[in-house]
Amino acid sequence: MNRRELGQKFARLSTNVVVRRPWLWRLFRPLVRKQFDAIAAEWDAMRMPDHLAPYERALGSLDRPPARALDLGTGTGQGAFAIARRFPDAQVVGLDLAQRMLAEAERKTLPELRGRIRFERADASALPYGAGSFGLVAHANLIPFFDELARVLAPGGHALFAFSGGAETPIYVPFGRLREELSRRGFTEFADFAAANGTALLARKGGRT
Ligand SMILES: C[S@@+](CC[C@H](N)C(=O)[O-])C[C@H]1O[C@@H](n2cnc3c(N)ncnc32)[C@H](O)[C@@H]1O
Repeated sequence: MNRRELGQKFARLSTNVVVRRPWLWRLFRPLVRKQFDAIAAEWDAMRMPDHLAPYERALGSLDRPPARALDLGTGTGQGAFAIARRFPDAQVVGLDLAQRMLAEAERKTLPELRGRIRFERADASALPYGAGSFGLVAHANLIPFFDELARVLAPGGHALFAFSGGAETPIYVPFGRLREELSRRGFTEFADFAAANGTALLARKGGRT
């Protein structure tokens, strides 16, 4: 087994464990950070050009633009850039654990986006933002932490989950599981998307906007 296959196996294992038992994330976190710091310089070359197609498809279905959006596990920033391009008035935060991934994101940020996109190092399981801070919380290929994403999302805001290789993605959460976790936290209006090889799920947080 080569390094890449080993990394994918580890990603699948950590996703399956942490989605069921989020408190075990602290055991995986240092290894995940190290893994992504180590491959940061190669990450973009490892991706298919259309790997964010389902993420983009879901963004395109939003009925109104978010004023503030958060791309969790942003990696080299592609999800954050996609949001910023699609919603020209939105303030966008791209957040990641791995400093080297963020350094790539910073390096790639176009001058015209610098005023309204920023990258921050933090953990999606303990977000440094107040309740209801964002109108959109997006994930591409990331283990979700449901309590935190629900907390920082404003009532009426959207949560987006995209998996570039659908069920074959190493970090993948079945949509039944996503719906169950989100429904318990008051989310409704679920919508599924498929594009290129990937899939995405969009859900709206209940409550008044
Ligand atoms: C599979 S990569 C996906 C990157 C990007 N979203 C994409 O689709 O190209 C996962 C990224 O999430 C980051 N990450 C993993 N767990 C995280 C967490 N709990 N909080 C913040 N970032 C995390 C990793 O460092 C890595 O950059």
